[in-house]
Amino acid sequence: MMRAARREPCERTPVWLMRQAGRYMAEYRAVRARTTFLQLCKNPALSAEVMLTAVDRLKVDAAIIFSDLLPILEPMGFDLEFSAAEGPVIHNPVRTSADADRVRELEDLDPLGYVIETVRQTRRGLDESLPVIGFAGAPFTLASYAIEGGGSRSYLHAKRLMLRDPGAWSSLLGKLARAVTAYLNAQIDAGAQIVQLFDSWVGCLGPDDYRRYVLPHARTVFQGLRPGVPAIHFATGNPALLPLLREAGGDVIGIDWRVRLDDAWRTVGHDRAVQGNLDPAVLLTGAAEIRRRVQDILDQAGGRPGHIFNLGHGVHKETPVENAVALVEAVKELSAAGTP
Ligand code: CP3
Repeated sequence: MMRAARREPCERTPVWLMRQAGRYMAEYRAVRARTTFLQLCKNPALSAEVMLTAVDRLKVDAAIIFSDLLPILEPMGFDLEFSAAEGPVIHNPVRTSADADRVRELEDLDPLGYVIETVRQTRRGLDESLPVIGFAGAPFTLASYAIEGGGSRSYLHAKRLMLRDPGAWSSLLGKLARAVTAYLNAQIDAGAQIVQLFDSWVGCLGPDDYRRYVLPHARTVFQGLRPGVPAIHFATGNPALLPLLREAGGDVIGIDWRVRLDDAWRTVGHDRAVQGNLDPAVLLTGAAEIRRRVQDILDQAGGRPGHIFNLGHGVHKETPVENAVALVEAVKELSAAGTP
C-alpha cells in the first residue's frame, strides 16, 4: 500500500475498502447493539477492535481508523447527533455570516483526544506490515454538513451561502481547513502512516466554482500536512473535477465508477497514483461477476505502478460479507497473476 502510494513497483495491487467496517458486518452490528454510533467513536478501545476485526475478516492491506467525518465539528461549536432515521444531524447549522463568525477556530485538539487514541490503539493492534490510514472530511464536505444541518440532495443552503456571501463562506472554509490540517497532523504524530481527505459531496459543484470556492482551502490542507506522509484526495460524483483535485493536492487521487479508471488516470496524469474504482453495487452480485469486474479494472490500470484498489465509494450496508471477502481475494490473486 505504501509503495503503491509512492508509485513504486509492487508484487501485486494493494486493496482496502472504504467503509470496510460497518453495518454490513455481523460483528459490527453486534457492537452497535450495545452502544450508539457516537459513543462507539468516543471509545478508542472499541473503535480499534471494530476495525481490527474487519481487517482480519477481509484480509485487506490497510486499516483506516474507525471514526467519522463529523466529530471534528463538535469542538468547533456544532451540536452533532447521529439519528437512526436520518443519519447525521447538526442542530445548529450555519445559515448567515453571523453564524459563520460564531464557528470556533479549533485551537486545542484535546477534545478530539479519543480519535488520536484510536489511532494509537489501532496501530498497536495491527500487524506491522499494514499501514494505518488517518482521515478527515475535506473543507467543502464538512461545510456541507455544517450548513445543511445534515445530508442533502441539492446542497442549496450551502450553495446559497457560497454564492451570496463569499466572505462568510471563505471564513468558514478557512477555519475548517486549518482545523483539518491540525487534526490530520495529530493523527500522523500518533502513528497514521498515510491519510485520506474525504470530499465526498463536492461533485455537486462545477469546475469553475470548485476552483474559486473550494480549491484554495483543499490546497491549504495538503500544503500543511507533515512532509513525507502520502495523502489520498478522494471525491465522488463529478469526473470533470479530477484535474482540479490533482491541482489542489494529494499523492493519490480517488476515482469513483462514473469514469473509467484508464481515462481518469490519464486525466489526473500518470505522475500521480490513483485509488479506485469499483462500483460498490457490484458487491451485491456474486463471486464470478466480481472477479470479471476486478479483472477489468486491473486491465485498465495496465500494471502501471501506483494503483490502490478500492471501491469508488463506501460498502453498502446490504452487501453480503462473503462478497467483500471475494473482492479482496480476487484483487490479490488476479493482480499477482498479471505481474510479468
Ligand atoms: O471506512 C471505514 O470503515 C471507517 C469508518 C468510517 C465511517 N464513516 C463509519 C461510519 C469512515 C471513514 C467514515 C467517513 C464518513 N462519514 C464519510 C466519508 C465517506 C463517504 O461515505 O463518503 C461521510 C460522508 C460520513 C458521514 C456519515 N456518517 C454519514 C452520511 C452517515 C450515515 C449514513 C450511514 O451509512 O449510516 C454516517 C454514519 C456512519 N459512519 C456509520 C459508520 C459505520 C453508520 C453508523 C451506524 O452504525 O449506524
